[in-house]
Amino acid sequence: MEFIAPDVSELDRQIGGVSSDTPYPPPIRRLTLEDSEPATLVDAPATATGSSGAGSPGGFTAARRSIGAPQFSIRRMEIDDVSVSYSDREAVKGVSLPVRQGEVLAMIGPSGCGKTTLLRSLNRLTELTRTATLSGRILLDDVDITLIEPTSLRRRVTMVFQQPNPFPMSVFDNIAYVLREQGSRRQRKKALEPKVHSALERAGLFEEVKDNLDHPALKLSGGQQQRLCIARALAAEPEVLLLDEPCSALDPQSTQVIEDLIVKLRDDVAVVIVTHNLQQAYRIADHVAFMYLGELVEYSSATALFGSPREQRTKEYVSGAFG
Ligand SMILES: Nc1ncnc2c1ncn2[C@@H]1O[C@H](COP(=O)(O)OP(=O)(O)OP(=O)(O)O)[C@@H](O)[C@H]1O
Ligand SMILES: [Mg+2]
Repeated sequence: MEFIAPDVSELDRQIGGVSSDTPYPPPIRRLTLEDSEPATLVDAPATATGSSGAGSPGGFTAARRSIGAPQFSIRRMEIDDVSVSYSDREAVKGVSLPVRQGEVLAMIGPSGCGKTTLLRSLNRLTELTRTATLSGRILLDDVDITLIEPTSLRRRVTMVFQQPNPFPMSVFDNIAYVLREQGSRRQRKKALEPKVHSALERAGLFEEVKDNLDHPALKLSGGQQQRLCIARALAAEPEVLLLDEPCSALDPQSTQVIEDLIVKLRDDVAVVIVTHNLQQAYRIADHVAFMYLGELVEYSSATALFGSPREQRTKEYVSGAFG
């Protein structure tokens, strides 16, 4: 598992906080409307071993959290035959996937199968690893991301990490920091307030912190810190939100709050979540990509992938969770 130390300058770069010559917000983008796949179902799936539903012998208790099918689906990113190697070792092998607004895409697979590497490729974070090389194409709104200035790209495609990593400053300033970097550095607190509040509201944190926004962020609970990090990511008004195991350090209640939030966010932002928790993937994802040893083995709707996986390797992996 990858741990990224909470170093402010590095984080700043990752969330796109470094000022650049590229104007923000980015220029008008062409949105591609496309037919969405059939409605996501709300029933619990038949398991790979044939039993079905909540309370099945396999102990599968997940229920779909997303209510019904997404209202719409807009392709924001296209991953096209992407391979990533560290030195001469291939970690991701020829993966192609769509990333759509209106949907939550979950990436699952055993440790070391390349999930984080693929996720980091989506906003060019892999470039920060000296030994990493990438082939294939990744498009954001039909533009090759190598043509987009990295800081600008990382504002549009923001990432939240496994370990909550708030900046060592107040709750308010965590969000204001991003806003100031995007606009005028001299913006006064009062002027930033509506946007700070809005980001905290979208992340489902406002009610809990509104009485003391000067509270040090590092003194929040783990679940609150992670929602603050999501709020900070959302303050950049991204088109794509990347979440790398965002709940793995959290208790079940905080996890539930964040899962609810992710499902709500899917209408405004394309969400890609890496998770080891298969029940979580089933609860919140519209589509699931199962990776194994760097390959994309199967990509399907969550109900299809968990209920009737096409590939033997998927069957074996998901049946591990379902009994
Ligand atoms: N910076 C790096 N330098 C060299 N090899 C790396 C680096 N980061 C990852 N790898 C290797 O690439 C492969 C994929 O790693 P990655 O972190 O993408 O997997 P993952 O699916 O996210 O795993 P986990 O579920 O444990 O987080 C692994 O074999 C890993 O050892
Ligand atoms: Mg990982």
